[in-house]
Amino acid sequence: MRLSFQHEVLKQNVGKLVLAPLDLTTPNLRIVDSATADGLWLRDLATSLPPSATLIGTDIVESYFPPKEDWPSNVTLSIQSITKPWPSDMNSTFDLVHQRFALPAAGRSGLKAALHGLIGLVKPGGWIQLVEADHSVFTGPAMEELFELVKVVFGAMDVGYAHARELKDLLIEAGMEDVHEDVRDVPLGATNPDAEMARKSAYAYTLGAKGIVQAGKATGCEWSTERLDALEPSVEKELQDAGGVSRAYYVWARKPVR
Ligand SMILES: C[S@@+](CC[C@H](N)C(=O)[O-])C[C@H]1O[C@@H](n2cnc3c(N)ncnc32)[C@H](O)[C@@H]1O
Repeated sequence: MRLSFQHEVLKQNVGKLVLAPLDLTTPNLRIVDSATADGLWLRDLATSLPPSATLIGTDIVESYFPPKEDWPSNVTLSIQSITKPWPSDMNSTFDLVHQRFALPAAGRSGLKAALHGLIGLVKPGGWIQLVEADHSVFTGPAMEELFELVKVVFGAMDVGYAHARELKDLLIEAGMEDVHEDVRDVPLGATNPDAEMARKSAYAYTLGAKGIVQAGKATGCEWSTERLDALEPSVEKELQDAGGVSRAYYVWARKPVR
């Protein structure tokens, strides 16, 4: 529910799922969505693509995948970690490689290798599109506190905090061309002019706060239990009463034809 609401809120904000200038009407497109969770991004995209498209979603948690009978006929979901080498027969075969909100899983030390693996999947002339959150922007004290905890938790897990802002440079450094960046401040709760999106975004990000608090407790963070337990309700109240923003970086780039 959290990820599906978040997906709807992001889609409404940007207006489309693919920002890379790929012609989605081209027959026989091959698209992979890494860290796909329940494959929602891919299944949503499938509704607007020709049936000849091949759509592959990967994740490390098989239980997130919907039952196989619910997969569209051209969608396949399989297990693959971004920290492990991809099957060699997938390399250089995709028109579009997409990944949203998953790069932190590679850790600070594994970031470049994970990016290298994703770029390896793109065929020459094809596109990569990455979407990552930037936790340095907030509008109220509860969201500030939440992002401070994100920093603490990421630090304990050796996960970089600024990767969203670094993506563009990392893709240039990796030899990609036509590198573009679109920075979105997605309105949350009361800030969102659409009543349904206001409700769904507040709900999704309150649940996100709950997850970060649980991670804070699991990683033995030094915050007091009272401070941790106060966070989720204060985020919920702030988003409902005053609203907030969540900054997301959309970065896309093309693999040179050589
Ligand atoms: C925040 S969710 C994002 C899901 C989806 N991309 C979206 O935007 O709705 C992060 C996803 O990354 C997956 N994940 C975590 N570590 C991973 C890894 N090492 N390799 C691949 N996926 C991973 C999780 O299982 C989860 O589905």
